[in-house]
Amino acid sequence: MIKDNSSTILSIQNLTAAVDDIPILKGVNLEIKAGEIHAIMGRNGSGKSTLSKIISGHPAYQVTGGEVIYKGESILEKEPDERALAGIFLAFQYPLEIPGVSNLDFLRVAYNASRKYKGLEELDTFDFEDLINQKLDIVQMNPAFLDRSLNEGFSGGEKKRNEILQMAILEPTLGILDEIDSGLDIDALRIVANGVNQLTNSENAFLLITHYQRLLNYIEPDYVHVMYDGKIVKTGNKELAVELEGSGYDFLVPQEVGLEVVI
Ligand SMILES: Nc1ncnc2c1ncn2[C@@H]1O[C@H](COP(=O)(O)OP(=O)(O)OP(=O)(O)O)[C@@H](O)[C@H]1O
Ligand SMILES: [Mg+2]
Repeated sequence: MIKDNSSTILSIQNLTAAVDDIPILKGVNLEIKAGEIHAIMGRNGSGKSTLSKIISGHPAYQVTGGEVIYKGESILEKEPDERALAGIFLAFQYPLEIPGVSNLDFLRVAYNASRKYKGLEELDTFDFEDLINQKLDIVQMNPAFLDRSLNEGFSGGEKKRNEILQMAILEPTLGILDEIDSGLDIDALRIVANGVNQLTNSENAFLLITHYQRLLNYIEPDYVHVMYDGKIVKTGNKELAVELEGSGYDFLVPQEVGLEVVI
């Protein structure tokens, strides 16, 4: 059933998905409204990155049931680039290195494609450089990174900052950040979190995937979900993340898992 709710940005309904016929997602339900920040936590291998890749249209995953509605429309038949142009941005857990493509060129092409899609004029090199210099400030990144090949030889933390730079340029409606905090030193974590906080507004929404409650001290989520074996099995507020830090995931005994809302 497709719900019509104008403030809903993303509605995932009973989503099941497989890789090479192996079921990974086993009935995910998630509703994200404009202005909200959601966090997903959960054990390694529970399906968090799979969910993020399916939302962004990664071709390796077969959706076997359910719906993904973005701004009132099913996106399951849409190509990844169409989804990106429509405002879905995924910061990868493991950002790809693309030798031979300069970071600056990549950002300009992506930005201008998004301008074109919105019916706006493309920015020339000079105007784009002005824009990017403002955005570099958000992530406190050295401009020297713009002339390097995309992510090639970047340290783990530099790749993550670069993902936020891309997001700052593209200003997505739905930003999905898969372990944006992994590999960041304490200062970089603050900078990246501040960057995300500067990009939030009442018309967009963010989905953060993280293992650590610490990130959520900097980016305050409205909801925290726990994923277990391909499903969201528990939803709460940011206190849930604090509890998990203490308790771990052992309480998720398979046969007893049902949907529990604790807020
Ligand atoms: N392309 C693939 N081929 C085979 N198995 C896959 C593929 N993608 C995901 N899986 C499997 O699906 C399960 C879920 O993986 P996923 O990457 O979504 O987990 P995760 O919750 O993001 O874990 P982590 O916290 O370690 O990042 C894992 O068992 C993984 O091995
Ligand atoms: Mg993952």
